Parts: sequence; C-alpha cells; structure tokens
Amino acid sequence: MTAPIRPTVVTARDGRTAVINIGGLDAEQSALARRSDFPLLAANPRLHYLDSAATTQKPAAVLEAIQRYYETSNANPHRGAYALSAAATEAYHDSRTRIARFLGVADADTVIFARGTTEALNLVTSSWGRTNVKAGDRIVVTRLEHHANFVPWQVLAHEAGAEFVIAELNADGTLDMNGLASLINAKTKVVAFGHVSNALGSINAVAEIVALARKVGALTVCDGAQGAPHINVSVDSLGVDAYAFSGHKMLGPMGIGGLVMRRELLEAMPPYQMGGDMISHVGDQHTTWNVLPHKFEAGTPNVEGPVGLAAACEYLTSLGMDRVIEHERLLAARAMEKLSAIPGVAVLGPAIDKRGGVVSFTLDNVHPHDLSQMLDADGVCVRAGHHCAQPLMRALDVHATTRASFYVYNDAADVDALVESVDAARKRFAGA
Ligand code: ALA
Repeated sequence: MTAPIRPTVVTARDGRTAVINIGGLDAEQSALARRSDFPLLAANPRLHYLDSAATTQKPAAVLEAIQRYYETSNANPHRGAYALSAAATEAYHDSRTRIARFLGVADADTVIFARGTTEALNLVTSSWGRTNVKAGDRIVVTRLEHHANFVPWQVLAHEAGAEFVIAELNADGTLDMNGLASLINAKTKVVAFGHVSNALGSINAVAEIVALARKVGALTVCDGAQGAPHINVSVDSLGVDAYAFSGHKMLGPMGIGGLVMRRELLEAMPPYQMGGDMISHVGDQHTTWNVLPHKFEAGTPNVEGPVGLAAACEYLTSLGMDRVIEHERLLAARAMEKLSAIPGVAVLGPAIDKRGGVVSFTLDNVHPHDLSQMLDADGVCVRAGHHCAQPLMRALDVHATTRASFYVYNDAADVDALVESVDAARKRFAGA
C-alpha cells in the first residue's frame, strides 16, 4: 500500500525565489504570444482559456498552413507518379524534417508520426515491449504517470508475466529519486516516466533517471506530452531511448504527434500496424518491411497534421522556447500565491522551481466539477477530474482536483480572473 501523500498547501513565496524574480511580475504580465494571433481567442475576448494541458488553441499560422496545403498540394503521398502526389509527399517529409529540428532530433526518419502520445506509447509497448519483455522481468513506472504511460505497461507486464512496480513520490509531489533508484535492478527492462506531470506539473530529472536506467541496460521511455510544448527540448541530448509527444498540446492540430526512438531499436522492432506503405515486398507467404519511418506508418498518412504541427513548431520558435517555461512559471507562481490565500483552497504539488505551468488545487467542500462549472460561467476554462492519473489521485488522497494550466497566450489577467472566480464560488458555497 502506498502511504497517502498529504496535500501540500504551497506558499509560492518559498519556491519562487529559487528561479523567479517575482518582483518582475508586473513587467511580465502580458502574454508571450499575441492573443490576436489566435482566432478563437480573438473572437472571444472575455474567455480565460486555462486548459492548455488538455489541448491548446491554434494560431492562424497553423490554420493557414493546413488550408494552404489543401488548396495547393493535396493528394495521396507516396502513391502517385504525378506532380501533385509528389507535392503532397514533399509536404509530408518536409514537415517531418522541421518537427525533428524543433525537437532536437538529428535523424528525422526516427520521428515516427502517430495520432499522439497515447498511440506512440502503445507503439512502444506493443512492438518493443512484446518482443523484449519476458517473464520475470521488471517494468518500472512512476506514480505521476498519465494513464497512457501506465496502463499499456501494466497490461504488457501481466501478459508477459513481468513485474510491474511503481516509483513513489515525495510529500511535495516530486518523484522520490532514492525510491526510484532502489527499484531499478538487474531485472529491470523498462523505466517509463513523464517529462512533466499533467496533473501536478512536477518536472522530472530526465538525465538522472536515464543514468539510473542505463546502469542496468533498461529502456527509457519518456512521455513528453507536457514536456515538448513547454521546455526547450533536445531529445537527442536528453539521452532517452524513446520520447512521445502530442501536436495538439503545442499549438498544432489534433490527431498528430509521434514517437522519437533510437534508430537501432526501431530497426530491430516489428511493425506496429500492417497495411499499405509499411512493406517492402509482399510475397504469397512472407512480407518484408519498408525502411524507417515508413515501417511504422501503415496506411494513408495524416498529412495536414504534420503540416500544421511544423507551422506550430516554427511559431513557438519565433516566441523563443527558452521563454515559454519562464512565462508560465510567472503565471503559475501568481496563481499559487493568490489561490493559497483563499480560505479552504489547497494547492497541490511542488514549489514553483520544480514545476511547469500547471496548478492543481482543491476547495474544501466543493467538488471540482461543480467548481469548474461555476468558473465556466465567468468565462474561465479549467479541467476538473482525475486528469487521467488515477494512481496519482490515490496517493494524493483525493478523487479529483481542479486544474489550471497556462500557456503562451495567457497573461496575469487570466490568473486574476481565475482567482476571483474561485473566491466568488467559495463565498457562494459558504452562503448556501
Ligand atoms: N492529457 C490531457 C490532460 O491532461 C488530456 O488534460
């Protein structure tokens, strides 16, 4: 049994001094990105969109890139000898190169497109996992995981007869690194962990985790869904064996994301899905596989997705990826400080220097679903629930939280609207 972690009321004052000059907040109140770049936000000036950990809004540059692709280059890539099909093929592969550059991946053909992080992680567990994990092996995940980096490993472990173990957390919602180290032994085949927790915002020490796993030759699989959008990531430098990401959480369209994995691993792995494009030769009894990345991209690909995501990557680059996390932390610190001052509010998770722009909290005697509906009436969009992280909720000893998550188009006014609305809800419930 896991000892429940007591929800921690964070006083932002302690943590923020480590990395942030809060006195600079006034200077940083404006959003990093122009709200007018985002048609949905521009059309709804009173909307406070604080659910970017779930999905982000899309800048016009992304929408225009997709429209331009359909207006000028649409055909089925890899399948036609005619010029329009070649243009679609070019758009598809050019997008992969640009996305690889953004992610710091030198070998673009090791970026395998998938529908998103969930599909990318299922690719790893189904293909690499079923081939390599055997009875008696150990799979290590962490208590912070989103279900997408937990359930596939849990199922694989049960199928293979392997041991499935969970690295627990410190009281502040960060990963207990000593505990993790004690779980990694000669039997460990996989260490799967998130870059940034979607529910608490805790940032994991990727390099340290990789070093621990390397000592025993275990595969490292990082869920980058909340990392790549916010941190200036170089996947090559992180040293992980596999890194999964989702385009829609980084200003790109829905339905596109992918897996970056070391070439020698991808080459040794069996295909995940069978069909068109992923074959080299189909004999009557046996089939051989296409080269990377095609081996893992069966069927007509999603072309508009990579086209839109490449445009999103370049939009983020134009803002400066080094500035994104700093901007989010300023907003998160403001939210943590002001929410913590409201009676009955408990802000969960680590101090600001150990988290990204995610602030999960509870309000005494008010269910997060009710609270989020009341916030919605004030134009404040937040997520309420278990955030696809039920194992984490159990450790926090809560069923659900209310979560605000910040991104490049948010500013201090969004934080203040959240805080005012939470306080108004508290008063309404207290008076009910
Ligand atoms: N994984 C998404 C979230 O955290 C959906 O909201």
